[in-house]
Amino acid sequence: MANDAAILDEFKSVKAEGVAVDASKKVRVGIIGTGWIADAHRRAYLKQPDVEIVAGADLIPGKAEAFFKKYEKDGLDCSKIKTHYADHKEMLEDKSLALDCVSVCTYNRTHAVCTIDALNAGVHVLLEKPMCVTIEEAVEICRAEKASGKVLSIGFQPRFDENMQMIGKICRSGVLGQIYYIQTGGGRRQGIPFPYGTTFIEDQTAGLGALGDIGCYSLDCVLNAIGYPKPLTVSGYKSAFFGQNPEYAGYVNSGHTDYAAKFSVDDFAAAFVRLEGGIVLDFRIAWAMHLDSPGETIIMGTKGSLRVPATECWNGTFDKPMKLYQNVGGQDVCTEIPLVRSSGSLFDKKIRTFLDASKLGLPAPVPSSQIIYNQAILDGIARSAMAGKEVEIEIPEI
Ligand SMILES: NC(=O)c1ccc[n+]([C@@H]2O[C@H](COP(=O)([O-])OP(=O)(O)OC[C@H]3O[C@@H](n4cnc5c(N)ncnc54)[C@H](O)[C@@H]3O)[C@@H](O)[C@H]2O)c1
Repeated sequence: MANDAAILDEFKSVKAEGVAVDASKKVRVGIIGTGWIADAHRRAYLKQPDVEIVAGADLIPGKAEAFFKKYEKDGLDCSKIKTHYADHKEMLEDKSLALDCVSVCTYNRTHAVCTIDALNAGVHVLLEKPMCVTIEEAVEICRAEKASGKVLSIGFQPRFDENMQMIGKICRSGVLGQIYYIQTGGGRRQGIPFPYGTTFIEDQTAGLGALGDIGCYSLDCVLNAIGYPKPLTVSGYKSAFFGQNPEYAGYVNSGHTDYAAKFSVDDFAAAFVRLEGGIVLDFRIAWAMHLDSPGETIIMGTKGSLRVPATECWNGTFDKPMKLYQNVGGQDVCTEIPLVRSSGSLFDKKIRTFLDASKLGLPAPVPSSQIIYNQAILDGIARSAMAGKEVEIEIPEI
């Protein structure tokens, strides 16, 4: 195995960006949807010296209030946080809040309405992934963003992992030549998520299953690395053999066999996607399967190929080195790319970069102009699976 310092040196150029935080004026933040992931947003915001959380809203009466009360023991002054709203709209209409930013932490089906209403109210938005459920919603979100002039960033925290960023550095360096084939995906053996109920597994709240929960991360990992080429066609497949089976071990072990009847999204999906630039993408994602992993990520190019170890893409990193394959001077060589131990929480970086973009007028750290292509693929897989044949991807003008 070659460990050629010259090859590795090519990827050392990009440094972590950092902006000095001015805490003299507090950013006034509201949280829409106070469920599971909102907790990570709350914790990350509370670490920032320039943030005041002023409001929270949830459809379930009393949920937002209880959500903040848990933090009183750590010194959070809940008397300053308003939570009496029936939904996101009431919170956005409360002008006394003078909101600067919101996190949209609702289930997928209400991502679009909450984000559009917040942008229309003149508020910067950090929207949890996936962007939404359908491509039509994504287009409406982008139009609202454009009209508002506000920052909209989508919550893909693995973007801030240095090993993930290295994939992009390698692709951009040209060392792979012309990229023509990508295989990516991920999954778990028994990983249908129902930590706090059924919002992830019911169509009326989630809209997308494994595709929207973890598939969007796998797609973002490779599409971001190669500059998000436009998707052109998709041949997709979806199934729900595990989620709809009351004998699925995850249900049996947790005593939730009744969830099988509620399960109305995908637990597995696969697709063959043609991208602009003559690239094809072979993709699969699973919440449950009789397999340890559905494979590594590989990026094949005319001058070199990259193998990224099977990764829990949703957690943002991998634990074995990537390998770069080339032919140098007639010799087939393989270079191990040393793993970087990222410092700091990826979630904190997601929140901090969003705040910096909102305060300083910087571009969104994870822009909708890219993620709309991610959404178009998710939407294309759903349409193609339904039609039983390949479909074209058409994205209207924003
Ligand atoms: N980035 C990550 O690591 C990560 C991890 C988990 C979940 N997520 C994403 O976060 C989102 C939420 O997931 P969750 O597990 O927290 O869901 P959840 O069901 O626990 O919480 C969602 C909450 O939103 C509320 N809600 C829905 N519509 C609303 C509205 N219009 N106004 C006010 N409240 C509303 C619901 O009542 C619910 O309490 C999902 O889209 C999911 O994909 C991201």
